[in-house]
Amino acid sequence: MNDTTHVPVLVPEVLSGLDAGVAGVYLDGTLGTGGHAAAILLAHPRSTLIGLEVDALSLARAQERLSAFEGRLTLYHSDYRNIPDLDIPWRDVRGVLLDLGLSSFQMDAPERGFSFNLEGPLDMRFDLRNKTTAHKVLHKSSEAHLAQVFLEYGELRQARLLARRIISARKGTGLETTTQLRRLVEEVCRWRPQRGKTHPAAKVFQALRIEVNGELEGLDALLDGVLCLLRPGARLAAIAFHSLEDRIVKRAFLRLAGGAAEPVIRILTKKPVIPSEAETAANPRSHSAKLRIAERV
Ligand SMILES: C[S@@+](CC[C@H](N)C(=O)[O-])C[C@H]1O[C@@H](n2cnc3c(N)ncnc32)[C@H](O)[C@@H]1O
Repeated sequence: MNDTTHVPVLVPEVLSGLDAGVAGVYLDGTLGTGGHAAAILLAHPRSTLIGLEVDALSLARAQERLSAFEGRLTLYHSDYRNIPDLDIPWRDVRGVLLDLGLSSFQMDAPERGFSFNLEGPLDMRFDLRNKTTAHKVLHKSSEAHLAQVFLEYGELRQARLLARRIISARKGTGLETTTQLRRLVEEVCRWRPQRGKTHPAAKVFQALRIEVNGELEGLDALLDGVLCLLRPGARLAAIAFHSLEDRIVKRAFLRLAGGAAEPVIRILTKKPVIPSEAETAANPRSHSAKLRIAERV
């Protein structure tokens, strides 16, 4: 089992954004290994937290980590897109957090297949009950579909060429592991390490992860739904790690703040909040984080 502890990002900014110094019910839709949840529960001794996590392994780790807060926690092994269907005391909820994407706990576990730097199976599922793995996407999708995934979710210039090469590689045994996929990407993109240049496999792995987990599907509807369910004064904080996700959050906020006849929310972050230099130096994985906060009116 992976021993990496995920370092939560923008913790003071999330706590002040959610006004977590005041007692209330807080909802964490992406519990991970419980870093933000612990900070929220520590911020006020009478606060309680409802946490959702779709990955059973992360949930188990969070349960262990949060054991000291027993009695103040309700945890669900669930997709955050199910939030509107859960029995949640909306009148008491003061803040909702969505810290999107994946955690270091998942990234650093070779057997999960999320990292192109670690040899492992082509899995990439958050929810291990899901039948679609990256292997299935790579082996069963049409060339056109693969090209679209790499272009749309990875913004990879060589999307079509890579899709074509995958179709040939999958006929044999050349496309079974993360390392085999990384080598294929390096060959197709003629990769030469260069300072400041993103490895093309990072884009390809991101694209596959988004496709496998349907990460962008239903996110806008969920934001709309949750923001409407909140009581006036309650807040929602969303942290995105890539532009596709951040765009969905930004557009949902703008739609609800101004587009609707009656504004549903007030946007508290004109520009997204990003980590300080000190935070990115201490935790390089935080570098792409963007936090946006809205308050129900
Ligand atoms: C960036 S991590 C959250 C880390 C967490 N804030 C912490 O401090 O440990 C994102 C988490 O969201 C989970 N996740 C991704 N999609 C989800 C979904 N649709 N529903 C619930 N959890 C999801 C992932 O499994 C991952 O554990």
